[in-house]
Amino acid sequence: MKQIALRAAEIARQLKERTEVRPKIGVVLGSGWGGAVDALAERSVISYESLEGMPQCSVVGHAGNFVFGKADGVDVVAVQGRFHLYEGHTTETAVLPVRILSELGVETLILTNAAGGINTKYRPGDLMLLSDHINMTGMNPLVGVRPSSAYPIFVDMTDIYDPTLRNIVEKRCKESGICCHEGVYMQVLGPSYETPTEIRAFRTMGADAVGMSTVIEAISARYLKMRLVGISCISNMASGITGEKLTHTDVLREMDKLQRKICELFKSIYKDIAVLA
Ligand code: HPA
Repeated sequence: MKQIALRAAEIARQLKERTEVRPKIGVVLGSGWGGAVDALAERSVISYESLEGMPQCSVVGHAGNFVFGKADGVDVVAVQGRFHLYEGHTTETAVLPVRILSELGVETLILTNAAGGINTKYRPGDLMLLSDHINMTGMNPLVGVRPSSAYPIFVDMTDIYDPTLRNIVEKRCKESGICCHEGVYMQVLGPSYETPTEIRAFRTMGADAVGMSTVIEAISARYLKMRLVGISCISNMASGITGEKLTHTDVLREMDKLQRKICELFKSIYKDIAVLA
């Protein structure tokens, strides 16, 4: 297997040959976050299938496309399709889309996900801006990466989620009437959902929401010097909180309800971020 940096560069080269769009803003879409793509005009879709060296997606709700488009004249690239650790992918593959975005010139990255609410003040349909994270996967995408003076591997994780970007999203959520909390996201390995006892333990550790993505990508994005914001949609209350059983179909159904609001929200966020850049 080729080194991850080389693989990412080769795939980015193929993408650049097929689109003139040179985005500085990238968004990785979690389960049910299609609204962030609906916010884009003049879209061109490039499927993973059509790219040599790109792995394929297997999870329902993850299409497997790069979508290039414009929001109010601002170039954006969206990644529809994650590679999860629970599918058996390595951390290298899990961060491949982030590496590709970096190679494309993306400087600001929006990571989205669906998450189970651990904080009992949260409700399904609320958003949570990541203030920080806990990595419970036992893995790290920087293991084995050769350090260089430009890219050291002992990466600082203070304020990994950019406070200015967080303020922007918070303000826009308020204007759109979207309930948005700030909290700590924990990534677990999955694919089984957590037990009620695990959720109680995670709450004690300081987690407000739990999911199976994002943290590994955030670490890689920080290493690559990208400016980051993370947004969870609380698709369900975590195990044991309501007594209801958890299914992936329920998670997707809850996310479906929000698409119109997410689309409006992202139109304004893209514009605000472009002004910052
Ligand atoms: N646990 C883990 N991952 C999730 C959940 C959950 O409750 N909901 C959506 N993704």
